[in-house]
Amino acid sequence: MTRDQAQIVEDSFSAIGPVTLEMGEAFYDNLFEIAPELRKMFSRETSGQAMRFSQILAFVVSNLRAPDRLLPIIRNLGARHREVGVVAEHFPPFKAALLKTVHEKMGDHWTPEVESAWSSTYDMLAKEMLSA
Ligand code: HEM
Repeated sequence: MTRDQAQIVEDSFSAIGPVTLEMGEAFYDNLFEIAPELRKMFSRETSGQAMRFSQILAFVVSNLRAPDRLLPIIRNLGARHREVGVVAEHFPPFKAALLKTVHEKMGDHWTPEVESAWSSTYDMLAKEMLSA
């Protein structure tokens, strides 16, 4: 991803407002609508999961320009995912749910450039998680 894309992701994420449980919950609602078969993989209660997801997203956005800080955490997260049975084919529905959630939050401010910047961010995360 480019520096411009990092800027777009930072700006759009701050436009959404503070990290909330609600965003994480909206994400999981979208995920289980897109891929109901994934629900059974989540053993713990969804609200805890939703908060953890929102927090890691905030961490990712604020460290897009600091790969030395970002990548070890993301690779470690990838290794933990592999241990719970997450494989490459699970990543596309996750991407669709993330883009849909950010789109819903941004409303009219969602543009092709914003979509492309989030798409590149997600692809980078997925690649790093799967390389762990
Ligand atoms: C960019 C992609 C992703 C991010 C940022 C992400 C983030 C997270 C975070 C922060 C946790 C909590 C882990 C911990 O604290 O140890 C977690 C757990 C988990 N994630 Fe992901 N995840 C991603 C992709 C996926 C995918 C594709 C799946 C497949 C369905 C998945 C399934 C799970 C499961 C099953 C857990 C454990 C839940 C439990 O304990 O019940 N994640 N994820």
